[in-house]
Amino acid sequence: MDRLQARTVSLFTAFALALGPVTVHAASPAPVEGEHGMVVTAQHLATDVGVEVLKSGGNAVDAAVAVGYALAVVYPTAGNIGGGGFMTIRTKDGKSTFLDFRERAPLAATKTMYLDAKGDIVPRASLDGYLAVGVPGSVMGFETAREKYGTKPRADLLAPAIAFAKDGFTFEQGDAASLAGSAKRLAKDEAAAKIFLKPDGKPYAEGEKLVQPELGAVLQAISEKGPDAFYKGTPADAIVKASQSKGGILSKEDFEQYSVRELKPIECNYHGYDIISSPPPSSGGVIICEILNVLEDYPLSYLGYGSAETVHAMVEAMRYAYVDRNAALGDPDFIDNPVSKLLDKAYATEIREKIDPYKAGKSADLKPLGGKESTETTHYSIIDDEGNAVAVTYTLNGSFGAGVVAPGTGILLNNEMDDFTSKPGAANLYGLVQGEANAIAPKKTPLSSMSPTIITKDGKPFMVIGSPGGSRIITITLEAILNVIDFGMDISQAVNAPRIHHQWQPDKVYLEPYALSPDTEKALAAMGYSFDGGNDAPLWGQAAGILVGGKSLTDIAKGGGSRYYGAMDSRAAEGSAKGY
Ligand code: DON
Repeated sequence: MDRLQARTVSLFTAFALALGPVTVHAASPAPVEGEHGMVVTAQHLATDVGVEVLKSGGNAVDAAVAVGYALAVVYPTAGNIGGGGFMTIRTKDGKSTFLDFRERAPLAATKTMYLDAKGDIVPRASLDGYLAVGVPGSVMGFETAREKYGTKPRADLLAPAIAFAKDGFTFEQGDAASLAGSAKRLAKDEAAAKIFLKPDGKPYAEGEKLVQPELGAVLQAISEKGPDAFYKGTPADAIVKASQSKGGILSKEDFEQYSVRELKPIECNYHGYDIISSPPPSSGGVIICEILNVLEDYPLSYLGYGSAETVHAMVEAMRYAYVDRNAALGDPDFIDNPVSKLLDKAYATEIREKIDPYKAGKSADLKPLGGKESTETTHYSIIDDEGNAVAVTYTLNGSFGAGVVAPGTGILLNNEMDDFTSKPGAANLYGLVQGEANAIAPKKTPLSSMSPTIITKDGKPFMVIGSPGGSRIITITLEAILNVIDFGMDISQAVNAPRIHHQWQPDKVYLEPYALSPDTEKALAAMGYSFDGGNDAPLWGQAAGILVGGKSLTDIAKGGGSRYYGAMDSRAAEGSAKGY
């Protein structure tokens, strides 16, 4: 151990918890204020739709449904009706619930469907084309949410999306950049190319209008007849027909049998804050809580954002939690998830005792209990005048999903099957090395990392948060929470601050640009850490956050100003937070 380390480690123990929160002044836009409601999404037109629903008397669930349909049109990289997701809801009476409308494996799916005769993974078989597609859940999810927790007629909530699809919407720079990144892939599918590429073969550019009449007609049919128009109507028929002729295994029964699950969210307490997040088939809530439980005994607010000691504690907690994620968790209808063990504070103590305060752990020593490519998902956060809060994360998995549209439907289909374990020990799109608990089986849902999260304090809503980012969703969401609760950031600083990530395998600390100062990086390297990323590396995630009662903890303590503060991560080029 060198002198710097000896000094910092002794500070770590000697002054633990002696001082209050460290004030951080990250350079970020000011949070957006609202008295009656707040909507934060990755596409400004969808944000506006949500605010209009709230203004016209709809509640947060109504707004979430309308935003979900609007994003399917104006944010085609991830917004969807051909994919699936999760909705965490906390109503004004203090009840919380969780809707799982994630994709299911087709009935004809098999454990080895992505392996060749030698047992090797067929490259990209779980990512491109119809074999990659899971049975979509978004339409059933939105309708279930509306029927059970919304107040508005279906047609009112679909109307803005239908208008965007039929009349078109004008591309801003970020919309064009997102499409340009996937243009080559979309060109390979005739129906997708017809929608997203111009007659000259180029993708739509800034200032140009994208019109999606076929998608508009499907949305119109859903508006008039409900989810049956999708699951039992012509869209399902067209998708099955295209799937059968292009190497897929989807059947009519897959669509007819799809159902939404209403589940009890994962709950845990961190420093007096109640975290409400996604249960299996997501790993998100369990793993965020496991990491928070481990971190709760470290004096993070004293140690400070980005310090070597903080990063050491965070990375080690992440390392232990991700090995559990990858080995032990899966669809609760198929496996027995060890949730109570993973959430037990005594288990967190066991983990803490194994963390060497002076040295990096080694992933290879941790035995499981049992890409450069563009990826997209989207998260949005909403709160209404009555205090109903909704967090939604939904996705096609990769950017523009499987890159295919069944002719006549206008619906981009997901490639969610890649979230399963294609082969134990082999990495998926997000580098996740997973096990048997997440093996493919008919009607099974692949394990997710999506973490739509609501936090309460003393029984009142405090924060709504979530993000896309594949396997990194968990650490993105976690870091936004730590940034607010431990590091004293305002909600905008919290979602914008540079991030770190570790996921057990590969055994590296991933860094966003400027996440660590050079001397912090040196101190950590001396402890045995190796890094990936740095100042010219890509950014990840697009967190969407709302804070209630002030823009930061300090502001709340002073009495705050407005009631709601929102911030869309500036990594989302066309995102926005809007209050009213
Ligand atoms: O459910 C999951 O964990 C992934 N399918 C999420 C994909 C994702 O976040 C991609 N976006 N960045």
